Amino acid sequence: MARLLVTGGAGFIGSNFVHHVIAHTDHTVTVLDKLTYAGNRASLAGLPEDRVRLVVGDIADAAVVDPLVAEADAVVHYAAESHNDNSLHDPRPFLDTNIIGTYTLLEAARRHDVRFHHISTDEVYGDLELDDPARFTESTPYNPSSPYSSTKAGSDLLVRAWVRSFGVRATISNCSNNYGPYQHVEKFIPRQITNVLRGIRPKLYGTGENVRDWIHADDHSSAVLTILDKGEIGQTYLIGADGEKDNKTVVELILQLSGQPTDAYDLVTDRPGHDLRYAIDSTKLRTELGWVPTYGDFESGLAATMDWYRDNESWWAPTKDGVEAFYASKGQ
Ligand SMILES: NC(=O)c1ccc[n+]([C@@H]2O[C@H](COP(=O)([O-])OP(=O)(O)OC[C@H]3O[C@@H](n4cnc5c(N)ncnc54)[C@H](O)[C@@H]3O)[C@@H](O)[C@H]2O)c1
Repeated sequence: MARLLVTGGAGFIGSNFVHHVIAHTDHTVTVLDKLTYAGNRASLAGLPEDRVRLVVGDIADAAVVDPLVAEADAVVHYAAESHNDNSLHDPRPFLDTNIIGTYTLLEAARRHDVRFHHISTDEVYGDLELDDPARFTESTPYNPSSPYSSTKAGSDLLVRAWVRSFGVRATISNCSNNYGPYQHVEKFIPRQITNVLRGIRPKLYGTGENVRDWIHADDHSSAVLTILDKGEIGQTYLIGADGEKDNKTVVELILQLSGQPTDAYDLVTDRPGHDLRYAIDSTKLRTELGWVPTYGDFESGLAATMDWYRDNESWWAPTKDGVEAFYASKGQ
């Protein structure tokens, strides 16, 4: 049994991780989350109170962070400003949380010699051409495109430096695009699912050719637990489930699974600097640590996710109108 400090555990992937830990281990979890617009207490509802505690606070506040890190056996660091579109409109919170917040946690991990796992994204590698057969590996050079991905790249480099310079016992994982329960409706897949549930036509950026490599959040969680358990200190592991799909195919699948015509969507203005294609080669994680994803099939994972949004309207309904009004103001 270990005591985990999970930052950002009331967000999308962090809350999926907390549910996964409670279901598959006997660890206890303290969630440290600022409850920004992206964090939601309701994502932790129903979890056992004797094993999960929520502390509302900022990862950039050393006075809050220090005692929580001191009492943990490991820190799993998910907290971030995570939405590319927001980073184009107001980059500052991305620097505060992704850079200063990570620095603050690393300093506490260093002071108390606590194991640290840093959650990052494949977006640090930039994008690939649509017809390029290459996939990202752990040795792909960093080439971030947006304020979001550049601050995530910066936070990864801080972790590497704290391992090398100060001996912090840290690992890093860079994961591809996640989908699953508890994802904010501002994001592509839940936005389109909830549009269909509300009788609104799904919206597709540009021509919909952009490719993302989708992984179910539960598979991301099992990979992180595997790295915490067996990962080598100082190493980076790429996490992906061979789920490459272009955005047009994803929208068509959502419509098809809802029993609607697959062309019942609207094209909207593309996002500036929209990365073309991401693709992950997760050979290292699979061969060195023996991890395998559960959702090998994107369509079944998507159908399960659609069922979750259908059954949990009270979770997403309070934010839906505001998100659509915001996108409408930008012609999206
Ligand atoms: N969403 C993806 O597809 C994806 C893919 C790969 C990696 N990641 C990474 O996974 C992590 C989680 O992503 P997500 O999609 O769940 O994000 P999210 O936006 O849904 O959740 C982020 C959480 O962090 C909290 N938070 C933000 N600033 C904070 C601060 N200063 N102090 C404490 N808490 C704060 C928010 O309240 C929220 O609960 C991020 O580090 C992201 O870069 C995401």
